[in-house]
Amino acid sequence: MEEMISKVLIDQDTIKKRVSELGQQITNDYRGKELLVIGIFKGAVPFLADLIREIKIPLKYDFMAVSSYGSSAVSSGAGRSLKDLDTSVEDYHVLIVEDIVDTGLTLKYLKENLARRHPLSLKIATLLDKPDRRRVEISPDYCGFTIPNEFVVGYGLDYDEKFRNLPYIGVLKAEVYKK
Ligand code: IMP
Ligand code: MG
Repeated sequence: MEEMISKVLIDQDTIKKRVSELGQQITNDYRGKELLVIGIFKGAVPFLADLIREIKIPLKYDFMAVSSYGSSAVSSGAGRSLKDLDTSVEDYHVLIVEDIVDTGLTLKYLKENLARRHPLSLKIATLLDKPDRRRVEISPDYCGFTIPNEFVVGYGLDYDEKFRNLPYIGVLKAEVYKK
């Protein structure tokens, strides 16, 4: 698998440190509040798993799934809910956890969808932000790293459903896309 990576953009140690910082920040911001962390399948799973263990207050977590990408490296936009929450959010401060904000379509859809259910508050935490590609106005409240306009894989991010298990964020060799 490693031989298919042309460049490591963010290594494991750097991710770990930054996730710990975000966890501390979230701990401080949500102290005394009922926190519900909502992970977005499938990409947010590694980030969510590490982040929640750096948050030192009681919380619950749940997952949602929306479709957008298929196997293409180009975003086709968001909009279909595939897995909904198990419970209502009305009594919770909701923190959406996502792997990356790219065009912003996925999060705009999710934010509007969740806002209609009247959580006590609604914020977004993303591991990565690719602002160059934004098509709708949306900005994460917590962001791990802002990255250039490059397609990245690893730490939950996939190409054709693969490479999610890389422990770092990397860029694929061009030849991988041609297969
Ligand atoms: P958006 O709706 O365009 O903001 O895209 C969000 C989703 O697109 C993310 O949850 C990812 O699944 C996927 N995505 C966007 N950029 C990348 C990338 O560079 N690598 C892998 N997946 C990406
Ligand atoms: Mg994806």
